[in-house]
Amino acid sequence: MLGAILGLGLALLALYLVRAIRTYYSLSHFGGHWVAGWSRLWLLRTQGSGEMNKRFTEVNRKYGSTARIAPGMLITSDAPHSYQTNMKAELFRRMSAVRSPFTRGRWYAALKLHPDRDNITSYVDEHKHAAIRTRMAPGYSGKENVHLEADVDEQLLKFLNLVSSKYVAQPEQDIFRTVDLSQITSYFTLDVISKVAFGQTFGFLDNDEDPFGYLANLAQMLPAIIVFGVYTELTNIMKLPAVKAALPKSSDKRGLGRVMGFARDRVQERFGPKAIRHQDMLDAFIKRGLTQEELESETLTQITAGSDSTASALRMTLHFISTSPPILERLLAEARAGIEEGKISRPIIQDAEARQLPYLQACIKEGLRIYPPVTGLMAKMVPEGGAMLDVDGVEKFAPGRTQIGWNSWGMMHDPVVFGADAEIYRLSGGWLGMRARRSAGGWRG
Ligand code: HEM
Repeated sequence: MLGAILGLGLALLALYLVRAIRTYYSLSHFGGHWVAGWSRLWLLRTQGSGEMNKRFTEVNRKYGSTARIAPGMLITSDAPHSYQTNMKAELFRRMSAVRSPFTRGRWYAALKLHPDRDNITSYVDEHKHAAIRTRMAPGYSGKENVHLEADVDEQLLKFLNLVSSKYVAQPEQDIFRTVDLSQITSYFTLDVISKVAFGQTFGFLDNDEDPFGYLANLAQMLPAIIVFGVYTELTNIMKLPAVKAALPKSSDKRGLGRVMGFARDRVQERFGPKAIRHQDMLDAFIKRGLTQEELESETLTQITAGSDSTASALRMTLHFISTSPPILERLLAEARAGIEEGKISRPIIQDAEARQLPYLQACIKEGLRIYPPVTGLMAKMVPEGGAMLDVDGVEKFAPGRTQIGWNSWGMMHDPVVFGADAEIYRLSGGWLGMRARRSAGGWRG
């Protein structure tokens, strides 16, 4: 008996080793940290380091624009800069193109937030993803939401009132105050998203606080989210009763569960004999036939995808503008001139007017470039049969089902694309110059 168990154990070990060696050699012609060829521990450590963006960028700079970060997984910072280098690479564009043979990688499964249901971001199956996307795109585009801009403006006024009443310094009275930009921008975007999604704010800005302990709870869950992001197969354990019981639930009084409950209640109100109608995102989704159950899962995604990304973009752009006096000065001059010429509505500028201000637009784009709000891998999968990838001018074969993640930070900080000053928030030589090259037709981006 013992001999049989030992034999089985050895056979399984041999099988594991053969698989590990095969996986290792299938991508050994790509550079990368040696541990990454054998185990996902390097990736786990990197994702949990708090500076994943920088470490991935180091990897791409050291080992090549497409390099290995885990068994069966590559990362690319290969940007569309062929006008300068004459390379035919542009892997990112190739993977993301409409009807690309590259498909969504298993990585996306980690974006599942509900134990039983996928959502628009977590579907790995291309057909299911395309189907839900078709039904949700009109709602997300905002075209059917006539109150969209007014709803955002209402929250913006609340935000401005909060800042001016609580955080503006009064040097003449020796009153100096500081504001936690990272916190207050999250409050703002969470209230915006709840208002435009289902017509009611969470109330973060009302009392300048996290009313449900939502952000603190998200921070607590981060380590688990990181582990799930690396070991995506673990998402299946969410279905186990013991794990399910430990997950946030819509009946919770605080944290993510409380937000889930809020979203569930708003969805419930739209169904049944006394259904409320309100022209917002939820209404647009219901018109496209999303069921109550589907919406309960999707609203969570709406809240998470729509708040952290925008808060990050806002806080970093505001930070860079306010700490770069010449940029701030020029931006204010553009605003003053616009107001004098009657091109800017008061108290809040209209979206269409803001789009006509070139310096403001450059400031926003430079903010998104210098600090890309989304640094997740968004890994795509190489089609069955494999694909030849151009890595810095050398053709390399990636076998079918290899996942290729996106290094947004590395791409946006690429000096070949953005110039020698790529690490600096700078408009004269950076984005404005680049835009000029683009509009002259030089850049195919
Ligand atoms: C600065 C703001 C934002 C940035 C930088 C951003 C960035 C991104 C990125 C990089 C993706 C992944 C695309 C992929 O899978 O390849 C994505 C997907 C998505 N975002 Fe955003 N986003 C922002 C704001 C928002 C807002 C405000 C909402 C909701 C109102 C939102 C909802 C979504 C959804 C639902 C998806 C999944 C789309 C799909 O898979 O078809 N995002 N976003």
